[in-house]
Amino acid sequence: MRFLILLVLSLLASEGECDLLRDSVHVTSAAARPNNELWCYKCLAEVPDDRCADLRHNNSALIHKCHNDRRMCMVKRFSFTTSTENSTTLPKMWALERNCTKHCEPGCIVIGERTKLYACTSCCTTSLCNYGSGSDENALDLLIMPVAVLLLSL
Ligand SMILES: *[C@@H]1O[C@H](CO)[C@@H](O)[C@H](O)[C@H]1NC(C)=O
Ligand SMILES: *[C@@H]1O[C@H](CO)[C@@H](O)[C@H](O)[C@H]1NC(C)=O
Ligand SMILES: *[C@@H]1O[C@H](CO)[C@@H](O)[C@H](O)[C@H]1NC(C)=O
Repeated sequence: MRFLILLVLSLLASEGECDLLRDSVHVTSAAARPNNELWCYKCLAEVPDDRCADLRHNNSALIHKCHNDRRMCMVKRFSFTTSTENSTTLPKMWALERNCTKHCEPGCIVIGERTKLYACTSCCTTSLCNYGSGSDENALDLLIMPVAVLLLSL
């Protein structure tokens, strides 16, 4: 039996729609795999050249088993830019976290004007999938795309 779940995410998505995404990912993974077999990278980096931020180095010590209902891996990246009237600096990372998680809401929270703080989260559900940088470029693509269509076929 094949299921096709079509989720249409738009920037204007209400909180209710975000909950729908989160809950459907949570419920389907829980139903398909009663035992939690997920492994994620788990670490906290506070400088960009930390081995947590750059997983190309020996990272075996950062691999952890997820427990209970923490059935998603996530990367959360904190960064900032500063602007003058004519220019904006490239985003500078100041922290990055990888972990197992129960609830994960993908996307960015942005606060500030001249100095903007970004907290960008990405979520995934397969073992060791949270290797990405959670980079702002990806977040930007998401913002530019008016509608993202996500197909999950089980
Ligand atoms: C991972 O999540 C757990 C539970 O929320 C938390 O206690 C732990 O500090 C987190 N680990 C890191 C490296 O952020
Ligand atoms: C990687 O690190 C782990 C523990 O930190 C160590 O046991 C292992 O030998 C290392 N592997 C390599 C190829 O250096
Ligand atoms: C911004 O650009 C304008 C026009 O090019 C220039 O007159 C102004 O001095 C610039 N401001 C700064 C802070 O560089």
